[in-house]
Amino acid sequence: MESFLRCIQRTADHVRFIDQTRLPQEEVWVAATDWRVLVEAIKALRVRGAPALGIAAACAAWLAAREATFDPLYPAPLLAALDAIEASRPTAVNLHHAVRRCRALVQPDAQSTVSALAACADELTHYEIEACRRMGANGLAHLGAGEWRILTVCNTGSLATVGMGTALAVVRALAAHGPVKVFACETRPLLQGARLTMWELMRDGLDCALITDGMAASIMRSERINLVLAGADRIAANGDAANKIGTFGLAVQARYFGIPFGIVAPRTTLDPALPSGEHIDIEQRAADEVRGFGACRTAPDGCAVRNPAFDVTPAGLISFIITDEGAHVPPYHFA
Ligand code: MRU
Repeated sequence: MESFLRCIQRTADHVRFIDQTRLPQEEVWVAATDWRVLVEAIKALRVRGAPALGIAAACAAWLAAREATFDPLYPAPLLAALDAIEASRPTAVNLHHAVRRCRALVQPDAQSTVSALAACADELTHYEIEACRRMGANGLAHLGAGEWRILTVCNTGSLATVGMGTALAVVRALAAHGPVKVFACETRPLLQGARLTMWELMRDGLDCALITDGMAASIMRSERINLVLAGADRIAANGDAANKIGTFGLAVQARYFGIPFGIVAPRTTLDPALPSGEHIDIEQRAADEVRGFGACRTAPDGCAVRNPAFDVTPAGLISFIITDEGAHVPPYHFA
């Protein structure tokens, strides 16, 4: 019996996923038979988090292959769908790795392609579930059981991965072996920390508190934070790591206080082809996400906005990187 939520699942004839934009108010599951529904879900952050995006992309590719089976122009419509899936979000490399893997599985026979893409989506799902378990174990081995007071950002749990999580897998492993208190940054503008991380931590019965992003430095001091953990959407060969906007600032603050700052990510988030983080494509999202939240406007209509969804933390600020293969310490050289 799995002790975590599988936020996206492939069944015999459809893909089901929990709509994360509706959490924590409602648990709404969507059943998709059309790959375009998944592409919309990825763009709207109904499905999100780097490893979950890779799985969503592979599932969308499988749905597109099923549809293309009936098209006399096969494989052209499938290849066009793969391009659209790959263009849905730029920064999480898991999505791009998954689409490239699917593209390589396209065969002259449509039915064989459908089977190959189904197997690909399932293999990736099993890989990520196991990777989460290993990241938790590797994080526990690296840090050791103890009294941990952890600050984190965005959502790095089951909702982002289909398994125990990345940074939250380490939190969960530490909490199983000692007293752990978690402070979750709300993560403006889309509040993944407030809506999703708090929902997951409270479901687990963990000791946790929500803070606004601007409180982080003050809370590090007043609450004697002794560990900052974050996930990643893409890690370059030199260890520079792109993650949710605000992560870089947390790393700077952690360095000021001498608090270890760790990144937790599976191998599928590594992009060794990129020598450094300056080459990472940072997603720029709609201005209205910053001008308010949902239907509630908080800023003057039409005010100028910047809305980069991610930032890049330089490797020099990262104390360790936990992957499913082990714990890495500086200097980083991912190949
Ligand atoms: O925009 P999101 O919600 O997809 O951003 C997610 C993050 O930044 C996570 O920290 C990241 O994907 C790693 S956790 C699995």
